[in-house]
Amino acid sequence: MDKQIVLLPGDGIGKEIMESAKLVLTSIASEYNHHFTFHEQAIGGDAIDQYGVPLPEDTVNACQSADAVLLGAVGGPKWESIPVHLRPERGLLAIRKSLGLFANLRPVQGFAPLLHASPLKEEVIKDSDIMIIRELTGGLYFGEPSERVENGNAVVDTLYYHRTEMERIIEKGFESARIRSGHLTSVDKANVLESSRMWREIVNEKAKEYPDVTVEHLLVDAAAMKLITQPNQFDVIVTENLFGDILSDEASVLTGSLGMLPSASVRSDNVGLYEPVHGSAPDIAGKGVANPLGMILSAAMMLRYSFGMEEEASEMERAVSETLEQGYHTPDLNLKNGKQVSTRKLTEIVLENLSTNRISDSICNSYV
Ligand code: NAD
Ligand code: IPM
Ligand code: MN
Repeated sequence: MDKQIVLLPGDGIGKEIMESAKLVLTSIASEYNHHFTFHEQAIGGDAIDQYGVPLPEDTVNACQSADAVLLGAVGGPKWESIPVHLRPERGLLAIRKSLGLFANLRPVQGFAPLLHASPLKEEVIKDSDIMIIRELTGGLYFGEPSERVENGNAVVDTLYYHRTEMERIIEKGFESARIRSGHLTSVDKANVLESSRMWREIVNEKAKEYPDVTVEHLLVDAAAMKLITQPNQFDVIVTENLFGDILSDEASVLTGSLGMLPSASVRSDNVGLYEPVHGSAPDIAGKGVANPLGMILSAAMMLRYSFGMEEEASEMERAVSETLEQGYHTPDLNLKNGKQVSTRKLTEIVLENLSTNRISDSICNSYV
C-alpha cells in the first residue's frame, strides 16, 4: 500500500522519538512491501521559531491531505512567557480541532516485564488492561470566553458541550466496550456539574441501545482513586476532555512510565493523528535518553486504525514487547536487572527484533 504520512515532531523529545518511529515504520514498510512517504511539517514551538505561529497553514493543509499524521510533542519553557493564543499547545489543540478528531483513544496496557517497574504493587496492577476514551475537541479546553475579567481580578473559563458532541464520544465508548469485555465506566462529576448531569443522562439513554454492555457511573475523584487501587476493575473508560487528560497520565503509572503510553486521536472515518500521551519532557530533552516506545506504539496504532494493517501493527508491538523481555529500557523505567540504554540504542534493538522472529516466521516454525 502507498501511504502519505505527515510527521509533526514538534519540540523537546518530540524530535528524538519521532526519529525512532520513522525508522521503525521504514523497516516495517520494506518488510511488507508498503510505500510510506513522510512529509515533515512544523508545529508548536518549532513552528513559532520558524514562522511566528504554532500551527502554520501549510501544516494544516498537509495534515488535511495526508492518510495519517504522527505527532511527537509540543511545548517547553522557551515559549512559556509568550501570549497564550500563540503558545505551542495552541497549535496542538488547533490541529485536533481542525481535523475534527473528537475521540482520543488511550490504551493502558502493562507489558509483563514491566510489572515490577511500577511503584504500585504487582498484585494490584497485574491483569489490568484499560482503554481510556477521552473527548478531545470540546469542554473547558475550547469554551469561550476564556479570559481575565474585572480588571484582571477575576477569571472565566467556559465549559460548553453540545449534546451531539457528548453523544458521539459516548457512542465510541459503547462501541469499544462491545468489542472488548462488554463493560463501560463513564466518569463524570454529576454531583456538582450540570455538564456532567447531561453527560450521565446521555450515557443512560445510549445504554438502551447497547443491552450487551454493562454501564457503571463513577465520579471523577473516586475514579482517580480506584484507578490505582483496583485498576483491573476497569475495561473501557469514557470521559470528557479534562478528566480524560488527567486520568490518563495517572493511569500511565500502571505501565511503569508515562513514556510507554500511545494514543490515537480519531474521528468517524479512518483519518487520525497518533501521538504519545506524554509531553516534550524539557527536563530530559536533548540528552538522548527519552523513551521512544509510546511513540513507536502510537505508530503501530496508526497502522491498525488508519491503514487496517493489523499484522504489521502486531509485529511492531511484538518487537517492543521482546525488547522489554530482553531487559532493555530507557532510564525512565525502573527495571530490576535491566539493561539501561539510550533512545537510539533502544530503537536499534526494536529494529533488530523486528527483523528476527517475525510473526510469519514463528507461524512457519510452529508447523515444522
Ligand atoms: P511531560 O509529559 O513532558 O513530562 C512529565 C515527566 O515525564 C517528566 O519528568 C518527563 O521527563 C517524563 N517523560 C515524559 N515522557 C517521557 C519519555 N518519553 N521518556 C522519558 N521520560 C518521559 O509533562 P510536563 O513536563 O508537564 O510538560 C512539558 C511540556 O510538554 C509542557 O509545555 C506541556 O504543555 C507539554 N505537553 C505536551 C503534550 C503533547 O504535545 N501532547 C502533552 C503533555 C504536555
Ligand atoms: C495531552 C496534553 C495536551 C492536552 C496539552 C499539551 C494541550 O496534555 O495531549 O495530553 O491537555 O490535551
Ligand atoms: Mn495530557
